[in-house]
Amino acid sequence: MPHSIPIHTFPTSPTKSALNLVVNGKPVTIETPLRTSHLTAAGLPRPYDPGYANTAAFTSRITYIDGSRGLLRHRGYPISSLASKCNFLEVAHLLIFGALPTTTQLSTFQAALFTNPSSKVHGDVQAVIQALPRGGHPMSALMAAFSAISAVSPQYNPAIVGSRVYDKLSVREAVICKVLAHMPAIAAGVYRHSQGLYPLFLDLPHDPGMNFAERFLRLVNGTTPHPKIVQALETLLIIHADHEQNCSTATVRQLTSSGVDAFSAVVGGIAALYGPLHGGASEGVLRMLQRIGDKKNVPAFLERVKRREERLTGFGHRVYKNYDPRATIIRKLLQNVFQVVGKVDPLIEIATTLEQAALKDAYFVDRKLYPNVDFYSGILYKTIGFEAEFYPVLFALGRCAGWMAHWHEFLDDPDRRIARPHQRFVGELGPKDVPHISERDADKVGISPDAAKQGITIAKL
Ligand code: CMC
Repeated sequence: MPHSIPIHTFPTSPTKSALNLVVNGKPVTIETPLRTSHLTAAGLPRPYDPGYANTAAFTSRITYIDGSRGLLRHRGYPISSLASKCNFLEVAHLLIFGALPTTTQLSTFQAALFTNPSSKVHGDVQAVIQALPRGGHPMSALMAAFSAISAVSPQYNPAIVGSRVYDKLSVREAVICKVLAHMPAIAAGVYRHSQGLYPLFLDLPHDPGMNFAERFLRLVNGTTPHPKIVQALETLLIIHADHEQNCSTATVRQLTSSGVDAFSAVVGGIAALYGPLHGGASEGVLRMLQRIGDKKNVPAFLERVKRREERLTGFGHRVYKNYDPRATIIRKLLQNVFQVVGKVDPLIEIATTLEQAALKDAYFVDRKLYPNVDFYSGILYKTIGFEAEFYPVLFALGRCAGWMAHWHEFLDDPDRRIARPHQRFVGELGPKDVPHISERDADKVGISPDAAKQGITIAKL
């Protein structure tokens, strides 16, 4: 049956297309990496942009990245300066509130985080963590805990108290402090549960001289960590704090656009973060290095990558087409941590060999693939003493600052609308008659015998 929707009106190609437009009465052809889908109601071509590779969906003042030059700046400050001159909460303050804090502002921020009764982990949240099987992934527990925080915080939930609840700055600040104060406590509680260490939550009074990383490490095992380990982790938290519209932050914004409560948006951020292509890569790199096993196996591994049988985890980035500046910082931190533990992790030799070989290989050079933040972070976390599956939790510990900064900024954005992408529809248009179930012969109604078989396979599962 003929239909009136102009699907694929414009020629499409796998990587780019030419848009033929009329500008000021003259025909203009624009080569664009965007492919085109159907026409808008106004007759304009609708861009088709898988993975949003070329589309800006948000406006932000928080983080600037120049991928070709390997630059990362938060509110104008280079990441290397922030990492060497600030602690994590100073950077969190900068990201969220727009300026580096004064001494008074920093101590007020710290006190708001760690002395507020609402920062204490609720008994029901603790019960949720404790109810989970110990062998599950810690990120599942982190998500469950933040869902539970949502459940015990109805006063901050737009679905319960109304969509204007976040209009009040005091409410937003309370939510921000709650998320930031809960992240180290919950992360430590999740760790202790995974190790069978009880009680889950150690009583740790506020100490203005204690930085975020030290607080977390003390919550993990109650002992005093080595200052160099504290410093290394604090720096790691800073370099993970924000990275503009990465998958998890974009997810937080996307969820916020629907008006959902902040804790549920954070749950979405945690879920997106631990995918192996995003923050889960830190865990993936370690497992990959362990699988390679010896530096002599590196050439064969790289051949498998080039045949697309493997992915070189920890390499490549959507935005960086140059060395990720965060990877450079981690590389330096590693030496400090090796000194403290008194030995060099043998995986570093495999990682270095892998990096050097890849950076000389045309496959990686042509595609501008460099080590990203996750390439060396896993070895650092391992040297500090954490198991691989816990690395994404450590990533979330830092990234929660960025999530809250983007949440806060997006709520004030006059362009904020519910995120609702279009699709490029390539299915059957119909309308088709629905046959009675007794008449649904796979061949006759157009279901391929394969699809019919798949139904049986699923039923067998
Ligand atoms: N190993 C092998 N080939 C790669 C890799 C890699 N790690 N990354 C990209 N490529 C190839 C890819 O196959 C493609 O080749 P071709 O054009 O011949 O098809 C080309 O490089 C472009 O890659 P892409 O997949 O289109 O790039 P993307 O921007 O969609 O994906 C990425 C970015 C980070 C998901 C990807 O580089 C990747 O999978 N890296 C490994 C996972 C990883 O380390 N993730 C952590 C990212 S940084 C921290 C974070 O975000 O949390």
